[in-house]
Amino acid sequence: MRQSLLGWFDRRGRDLPWRLGHEGGRDPYRVWVAEILLQQTQVSRGLLYYQRFLEHFPTVQALAAAPIDDVLKAWEGCGYYARARNLHRAAGLIAENGFPVNYAGWLALPGVGPYTAAAVTSLALNERRAVNDGNVRRVLARLYAERQPAQSWVQARAEELLDPGRPGAWNEAMMDLGATVCTPRAPTCQACPLSAYCAAFRAGEAALFPAPKVRAQVREVRAVAVLIGDAEHAVLEQRAGNLLGGLWGLPLAEPALGETPAQALARLCERLHAVPGDLLGTVNHTMTHRRIRLDVYLATLPGAARQPTAQMALSRLDHKALGLLKHRQAGLFSVS
Ligand code: ADE
Repeated sequence: MRQSLLGWFDRRGRDLPWRLGHEGGRDPYRVWVAEILLQQTQVSRGLLYYQRFLEHFPTVQALAAAPIDDVLKAWEGCGYYARARNLHRAAGLIAENGFPVNYAGWLALPGVGPYTAAAVTSLALNERRAVNDGNVRRVLARLYAERQPAQSWVQARAEELLDPGRPGAWNEAMMDLGATVCTPRAPTCQACPLSAYCAAFRAGEAALFPAPKVRAQVREVRAVAVLIGDAEHAVLEQRAGNLLGGLWGLPLAEPALGETPAQALARLCERLHAVPGDLLGTVNHTMTHRRIRLDVYLATLPGAARQPTAQMALSRLDHKALGLLKHRQAGLFSVS
């Protein structure tokens, strides 16, 4: 099985920029950045973000020395900004103490969990650590015809199968197989190097494994924001909290319990000492657990300090809100 999968990987594995360098001995910085980025981002999109991030911060020293605002700016669009803040904190520790030399050392860094520690140490240090992500889970569920694979079960199977001589290649082969052949809905079993070993394939029902997970409910959130200025220069506030914390955006308020959006707008404008104007439009934005409907109003505040929007780290939600001005000129009032 190992020969089949690794042979396939050597022929068909994807040519990705963080795979530069010899197997098992890649640049830990590049591997680490890529693995953090790819946690919530598809490879196709991650490629662009990865190139951009490395252009800004080609080494861990460059990342450690950069102000956090520059790091958040370079992370713009990637979402889950806690990842960027943790990268920056961890870079500071690495710049002082050097790169960790084993799994336990990586795991101790901020933002590095078992998945990332296993990926980095297998790919950059040749340590025998199996990764366990959505792709690996699906491939293993099918190989063993396990409908509801628990995390501990997946980890145990992944460790057993891991190729002890080429742990990094094995891990990436599993990822690539899951991403390109053993895909969620329509796996191409005829192209799979593991079909001879696959219980789900033998049963003729690869796509039925694993059973779909019950999704956490998406919460509907309403909010109002004000645009004081224009798309290039506007009053911005730095957001607090875990969700978009650290990013800048239009001043915003969520209606409190029992409060209408109009009341929330009045409260927001009172806080800013601004005068509310017309509704500019509505932005719909979906994140993992929230669907946000944001009504954006124009407002005026003479003498207000406006910031250059292109230079600040803004969330996608705020980019959409600023984009409403352009849409308005085109006669549209709602963007998704
Ligand atoms: N997804 C996450 N890490 C990856 C890697 N190293 N190669 C391909 N896809 C990935």
